[in-house]
Amino acid sequence: MLKLYFLLTFFVAVSYCQDDQECLSRDYGYGGTVCVCNSDHCDTIARPDKVDQPQYLIYTSNKAGLRFHKDVGEFTTSDSSGNQIVINPDQQYQEIFGWGGAFTDATGINIASLDEALQEKLLRSYFAEDGIEYNVGRVPIGGTDFSTHGYSYDDGEEDLELANFAIADEDFQYKIPYIKKGIELSESKLELFASAWTAPKWMKTNGEYAGFGYLKEEAYQTWADYFVKFLDGYQDEDIHFWGITTGNEPHTILVPGNKINTVGWNATELGKWIQNNLGPTIRTSDYWDIQIMVHDDQRLFLPAFVDSVLENQTAADYIDGIAVHWYTDFFTPPSYLTDTHDHFPSKFIISTEACNEVEAGIGPVVLGSWDRGELYSKDILEVVTNWGVGWVDWNMVLDEAGGPTYINNTVDAPIIVNATGGEFYKQPMFYHMGHFSKFVPRPAVRVETVTNVTGDVVVAAFHKPSDDGIVVVLLNKEESVVPISLVDETRGTAQLELSEKSITTILYW
Ligand SMILES: *[C@@H]1O[C@H](CO)[C@@H](O)[C@H](O)[C@H]1NC(C)=O
Ligand SMILES: *[C@@H]1O[C@H](CO)[C@@H](O)[C@H](O)[C@H]1NC(C)=O
Ligand SMILES: *[C@@H]1O[C@H](CO)[C@@H](O)[C@H](O)[C@H]1NC(C)=O
Ligand SMILES: *[C@@H]1O[C@H](CO)[C@@H](O)[C@H](O)[C@H]1NC(C)=O
Ligand SMILES: *[C@@H]1O[C@H](CO)[C@@H](O)[C@H](O)[C@H]1NC(C)=O
Repeated sequence: MLKLYFLLTFFVAVSYCQDDQECLSRDYGYGGTVCVCNSDHCDTIARPDKVDQPQYLIYTSNKAGLRFHKDVGEFTTSDSSGNQIVINPDQQYQEIFGWGGAFTDATGINIASLDEALQEKLLRSYFAEDGIEYNVGRVPIGGTDFSTHGYSYDDGEEDLELANFAIADEDFQYKIPYIKKGIELSESKLELFASAWTAPKWMKTNGEYAGFGYLKEEAYQTWADYFVKFLDGYQDEDIHFWGITTGNEPHTILVPGNKINTVGWNATELGKWIQNNLGPTIRTSDYWDIQIMVHDDQRLFLPAFVDSVLENQTAADYIDGIAVHWYTDFFTPPSYLTDTHDHFPSKFIISTEACNEVEAGIGPVVLGSWDRGELYSKDILEVVTNWGVGWVDWNMVLDEAGGPTYINNTVDAPIIVNATGGEFYKQPMFYHMGHFSKFVPRPAVRVETVTNVTGDVVVAAFHKPSDDGIVVVLLNKEESVVPISLVDETRGTAQLELSEKSITTILYW
């Protein structure tokens, strides 16, 4: 009896420990809340436990402050009326690859500014089983605008043989340790891809990291070799890459006065470089099976730019995927992605960069802004319903000023650290990402949804082959509760009340 009592107490204590830590909510008055993590506390989210038919799980986050609030509902056989969303698991589309963010210098600098226990909480929040389980990471090849200064891996005199190539101190201080920790914390595989911003100045037509500069033609082969040397450098640290892009935002050089370190490319020259240099160099290297993604630039230039880069079949054959950034999405329809898919059905499309910037004098950092979270999930839903296989955010972590960035290009991020206060803030953007990354694992397949909802409700659904489950993500942008009948003819109807300004994930098996 006594023994049993002890056993029971032990069991209760253990299951108590496994309960999620609640969000420590704080409202800075910007239309929403953050969750505060400090030395005593950080909110967690456990993996969903399977429920049996006719039950479903429902997780809600909203502007009013709910974060992954969990409930259980039941499908019924009642007739549905009013707003209806039909899930059709038999109609399948693309396979989802994943969700993540970028290991920039700024991200590492901000993580390093916290004490070790808090660093652990932050990295767990992104990667661990009790976090939102990111499974993709973008790694800059050298510096970006979110570094403390401009640099490449071979600065100084012209060095076409790359005799002086060396991975930078920044990699060892701010990227490699946190990438390794991310890999260690991830239950599923953290897949990495690398993008270069600028080449060394001596490779550029303008002799500068930024501004109107292309790659000098005599440096084409050297620039391809540079990618392999980067992959070698990381392989020496036991970090292996799933993919590379052909370079970050080649069109940026056309923006007058831009200060972002960039290699400019026009379509003809990029095509030539891929077919004569990058393609053959990578495919005959140790990294022959790495995924090569072209574009890594705005949706605005699709599909025309990629059409012309890949005009020559030899160039096209080297390319596996098309990487897209979000900065022109507010005036560029998502159908551009579907057009691109239709032109290159065998090549995947993936979103590789997004962030909220200063807008109408607001920002760069707007603590707690629900609207900014909504912009993320709205874009994700558009991308995945137009063939996108994943969505990767920009800086995972920034400081309260939205940096550091040596060109003052301060922006917002899903996690903001307050080093002096010994805390960090998980913004609504973090939870909007989490409503996908936590519940839509690799592999999952996007399935059809048919909606006649009147009002601003956006939806996407996925099938998980691993456990034959269905995941539905619903964004309600309305300022009012929206009643929905969610219909899956194999299960019945789920009557939902989507709370005002909310994002909801439904799971059933
Ligand atoms: C949506 O479709 C259902 C089923 O056909 C119907 O009952 C309902 O009235 C429709 N709702 C709207 C808003 O059109
Ligand atoms: C790209 O640049 C090259 C070299 O400057 C030039 O010859 C070519 O016409 C350009 N192509 C396009 C499409 O602008
Ligand atoms: C395509 O590229 C290959 C390899 O560089 C070249 O031999 C071929 O002539 C090119 N084709 C066209 C149509 O330009
Ligand atoms: C960035 O801002 C600081 C402080 O306002 C200023 O001193 C510096 O010149 C700016 N740098 C650039 C590249 O604009
Ligand atoms: C950061 O911490 C400092 C010191 O505790 C505090 O004064 C400041 O208000 C905090 N910043 C935010 C955004 O809460």
